Amino acid sequence: MKPIERVQSPDPGLVQRWRADFPILNERVHGEPLVYLDNGATTQKPLAVIDAEADYYRQYNANVHRGVHQLSQRATDAYEAARATIARFINAASVEEIIFLRGTTEAINLVAQSHARPHLGPGDEILISAMEHHSNIVPWQMVCEQTGAALKVVPIDDAGEFRFDAFERLLSERTRLVAVTHLANALGTINPVSRIVAAAHARGVPVLLDGAQAISHLHVDVRALDCDFYAFSGHKVYGPTGIGVLYAKAALLEAMPPYQGGGDMIRSVSFERTEYNVIPYKFEAGTPNIAGAIALGTALKYVSRIGIDVIAAHEAHVLDYAIQAVTDLAGVRLIGTAREKASILSFVVDGVHAHDIGTILDHHGVAVRAGHHCAMPVMQRYGVPATVRASFALYNTRDDVDSLIAALHDVREVFGR
Ligand code: ALA
Repeated sequence: MKPIERVQSPDPGLVQRWRADFPILNERVHGEPLVYLDNGATTQKPLAVIDAEADYYRQYNANVHRGVHQLSQRATDAYEAARATIARFINAASVEEIIFLRGTTEAINLVAQSHARPHLGPGDEILISAMEHHSNIVPWQMVCEQTGAALKVVPIDDAGEFRFDAFERLLSERTRLVAVTHLANALGTINPVSRIVAAAHARGVPVLLDGAQAISHLHVDVRALDCDFYAFSGHKVYGPTGIGVLYAKAALLEAMPPYQGGGDMIRSVSFERTEYNVIPYKFEAGTPNIAGAIALGTALKYVSRIGIDVIAAHEAHVLDYAIQAVTDLAGVRLIGTAREKASILSFVVDGVHAHDIGTILDHHGVAVRAGHHCAMPVMQRYGVPATVRASFALYNTRDDVDSLIAALHDVREVFGR
């Protein structure tokens, strides 16, 4: 792990101004001011995002790509403008490479069924890592079951780092796809994704990156990464729930069959034959989450206005401070101590179950996630049933960490530790 110093946040005044953008931060929980440290599960929404969603319903609610009337055209323009904002945010080569879906989970399932399944057979392999969220495990298990292919797992070391040596050994002429997380949700590890992509591509193997956690903490440039697929959810980057994105290289999308059939994904339909629409619409069957897509565009503009690098620097200060503070507590063990990590502080306390800790913290107004974090294999790797996870976002401060630590002292008193 990197040496940790107690460091100042770049500009506390600036962070206070960001906080003012998030109305929910004024809420009280059990009579205490809310200290929201469950951003890995979902981030809070700035007023601009809440307004963008409400404005659509208040002022121009209509379906997209269907009506000649003015409201429908306004809705279509806003929906497509959001797609363009997303393409710019991740530096996609074109808007056709941005598919609106429900979230990361749906995006990975789409790739498993539409890209991988037609290419897989007995003897083929999909390569994932041991630090994946269930969303980047189960869709691959399902497609392996459907095709007779096998799932191979790159191990992690005790710090929670990706074992690149093992990856290189596992990568073979049988590998059909590599799917790894950019930033691990239960550990905070930032994976060496550029090296992973380069090694896979050297063997002609495409790579999917699960960007659910990374998208709000790291600069994501899909062309610089050269990944083939990148999946993320809107609600983890200050946008609404129920909307997410699959980025994929246009040539791959062109070659993939549709995932679902229905309206908007067709060019013409007869009972004899259906001609599919062009990308990205071929993958957007049915009325999409129009308000969600528009508000996600607003969320990404909000992040861009502050600057993802400014956010990342601030969060690194808060995380370093939190790591030091938690490490100073007796009986606490950090789970996930990679040299490159962001935003996530997972830990266990000797003799106290994570759920009990989460409940006591909640009574102090401190919201954390306690459990397996939809990453049961990670828990098994460390021999723990669950961890407590504090996860940080742009509006978190060292005061929030101090509240967490004060509440942890109470946990120790309650349990006599
Ligand atoms: N995937 C989300 C998390 O890590 C829900 O908490």
